[in-house]
Amino acid sequence: MINKLQQLEKDALAELAAAKTEDQFLNIKTKYLGRKGLLTGLLRNIAQVSDEEKPLFGKLCNEVKNSLNAKIDEVLQQQASRNREDILSREKIDVTLPGKYVPSGRIHPVVQIRREICSVFASFGFSIVEGPEIELDYYNFEALNIPKDHPARDMQDTFYIEDNIVLRTHTSPVQVRVMEKIQPPLRILSPGKVYRRDSDVSHTPMFHQIEGLLVDKGVTFADLKGILTAFLKKIFGDGTMLRFRPSFFPFTEPSAEVDIHCVMCGGNGCRVCGQSGWLEILGSGMVDPEVFKNVHYDPEVYTGFAFGLGLERIAMLKYGISDIRLFFENDIRFLKQF
Ligand code: PHE
Repeated sequence: MINKLQQLEKDALAELAAAKTEDQFLNIKTKYLGRKGLLTGLLRNIAQVSDEEKPLFGKLCNEVKNSLNAKIDEVLQQQASRNREDILSREKIDVTLPGKYVPSGRIHPVVQIRREICSVFASFGFSIVEGPEIELDYYNFEALNIPKDHPARDMQDTFYIEDNIVLRTHTSPVQVRVMEKIQPPLRILSPGKVYRRDSDVSHTPMFHQIEGLLVDKGVTFADLKGILTAFLKKIFGDGTMLRFRPSFFPFTEPSAEVDIHCVMCGGNGCRVCGQSGWLEILGSGMVDPEVFKNVHYDPEVYTGFAFGLGLERIAMLKYGISDIRLFFENDIRFLKQF
């Protein structure tokens, strides 16, 4: 029996020396030391050992068991550290390599201007609302007192989707949508995309407008002048010179276009302002009683003013950009400057 035991130990060590993988080591452990293993089997046959040899045999069995256990643990540990080394050498990182340059984005100049204008009007108590870009003829034209034969409806200017459905040509339809839903007093500002069939250095088929509307009892043209003056001085600076010039819109009466002193030449006259010294900046006016009737406001009780301005135009003037198309090419060298 003792010989068998010694042979068993030799076999086990030889198998361990030949084994390579963790699985193989574990299999050897089970084969010799497991509950149904070879060493356990020998111990079970201790009855065959003579009484004198029994203590010695038991002791040797234990020694073999302990030493095999220790040996297997040792090779398992060696294996684990070999695996780690392996992974480390495969996944080597060269920390001296230069990093990858990730160009960072900027807020688009049109978005910057939009945010700036919205926050100025928010400070005046206006809330921001949005309307649909695909609009009914009724809201884009009819309810704004733009009759069927008005030149603004010309196929040249308007993108028609169907007879009665257009891509909105301005943000003014939002005025009507808001007034249909809420009763005065109200102050709203509505930024968004608008569409016109037009394309040159100062026109793109899509551009951005902001619409403003204030309705209450006793609102006068002086309120319009006051609010728009305060607003333009916040955007273009306190010293900005303004002028209100009579104009016409079907949905406002009276109407005014607002000019500022040319930001390029300071009013002396240059190419940008066509030598006039003035730049047209927005359209505005007192809401026409016809529009109030369409939304069932009583024009005898309420008055209000509205205005609309083009964001690209403001951004061009503020930043001295001469071609509107630059806003939509998304050339990072252009965008980075703002
Ligand atoms: N909707 C007009 C335009 O696109 C601007 C405007 C808005 C004028 C509100 C007066 C009042 O030109």
